[in-house]
Amino acid sequence: MLLRNHWYVAAWSEDVGRTPLGRVLLGEYVVLFRGLDGAPVALENRCAHRNLPLSEGRLDGDEIECGYHGLVFGRDGVCTHVPGQADVPGWARVKSYPVVERDRWVFVWMGAPQDADPALVPDYHARLADPDWYAVTGQTLVKGGYRLVLDNLLDLSHLTYVHSSTTGNRALAEEATLITEEEDDFVRVTRWMEGIPPAPAFVQYTGDDGPIDRWQVSKFIPPAYIDICNGSTVAGEGLPQEERPASQGRWGFVVYHALTPETETTTHQFYAVAGHRSMVPAHMEATFTEQMMGVLAEDLAVYEAQQRAIDLDPETGGADVNPRGTIAADDALLRMRRMIRRLYGEERRA
Ligand code: FES
Ligand SMILES: [Fe+2]
Repeated sequence: MLLRNHWYVAAWSEDVGRTPLGRVLLGEYVVLFRGLDGAPVALENRCAHRNLPLSEGRLDGDEIECGYHGLVFGRDGVCTHVPGQADVPGWARVKSYPVVERDRWVFVWMGAPQDADPALVPDYHARLADPDWYAVTGQTLVKGGYRLVLDNLLDLSHLTYVHSSTTGNRALAEEATLITEEEDDFVRVTRWMEGIPPAPAFVQYTGDDGPIDRWQVSKFIPPAYIDICNGSTVAGEGLPQEERPASQGRWGFVVYHALTPETETTTHQFYAVAGHRSMVPAHMEATFTEQMMGVLAEDLAVYEAQQRAIDLDPETGGADVNPRGTIAADDALLRMRRMIRRLYGEERRA
C-alpha cells in the first residue's frame, strides 16, 4: 500500500551531484543527478533501448548517455541522439520526475506529474539549517516496511524497553497520559508524564536526578513524515502545559524522520535528531551523537527483526498490525494506518 501522489525525500542534497545516483523509490528505479545549473534531475533509471540503468552511464553536459549503446537523454527524459542514425524514434524516452530541493533534502514527486505542487513539500526540518541547533543526520536502508518504522515513532512507550540506557525508563511506559489528535492531514500523539524519575540522558545533561515532568509529542504527516518533540522540566515547575508541545523546556531534543519506501518491505530512512545548543553544548556533541546513533541502531534492530518474523508468517497480513489484537498504546498508529488506507483508496478512485 504505497501512496504515490506525494513528495518523497529521495536523497540528501550532498549525495546528488555530477555522478549519476541510482535509487529505488516506491519500487521504481530512479536516477538522480545535477544539471549544469546545479538543479537536481530525476529520471527513470532504465534505458528506453535495452534497459541498462542510466546510472551506469555518464553525464555529458546537461544530458545523460547510456553506457551500453550510447543513446543520449535530456533532462526531460527525451532521447536527443541515437548513435549511427539521424532520426530519434518517438519511443526513445524515459519518464522524468518533478523534483524540488529544500534545505538539505531532494524531494521527488512519485505520482501524476501534473499534480506535483511544490507548495505541498512539507516544511519539516528547518532545524537542519539552523546554526542554533546541533543535528545528528544520516540515512539508513531499513530491511523493513515503512509502517513498522512509523509504528515505532508513534508509540514512544518503547523507549522503556528499547532505549533504557539513554532516553527510556520504567515510568515512561507505565505512567504516561496519552492524548491522540487527528485531522485530515496529521495524527499527533502526546504523552504526558508528571513527577517521574528522569531517564539516564536527562540526568547526564542537566546534572539533576530529581523528578521531572516530561512530554513527548509525535506527529505523523502522510505519506511518511514524523516529527517528535521531547521535552522536560523540573517536576511541578516551568512551562505551562499548553506551551510545552513546541518546546524542550529544561532539557530535550527534536527528531525528524522522512521515510521513503524502497519496496513494500524495505525503506529509505532519512533522519535528523537535533538538540538546541543551550541543551547540547559543544563539549557534549560527541556524546549526543553517540547516544542518538545508538538509539537509531536499537530501533533498526527492532523493525528488521519484526520484518523477518512477518516474512516467516504471511498469515500476519504482510506488514500490517497483528490481527490478534491491539493495546491502548496502539491508538495513534492505528489511526496512522487508517489514514494511509483512506488516502490509498482516494488515489485508487482518482
Ligand atoms: S541499452 Fe541503453 S543504449 Fe542500448
Ligand atoms: Fe526508538
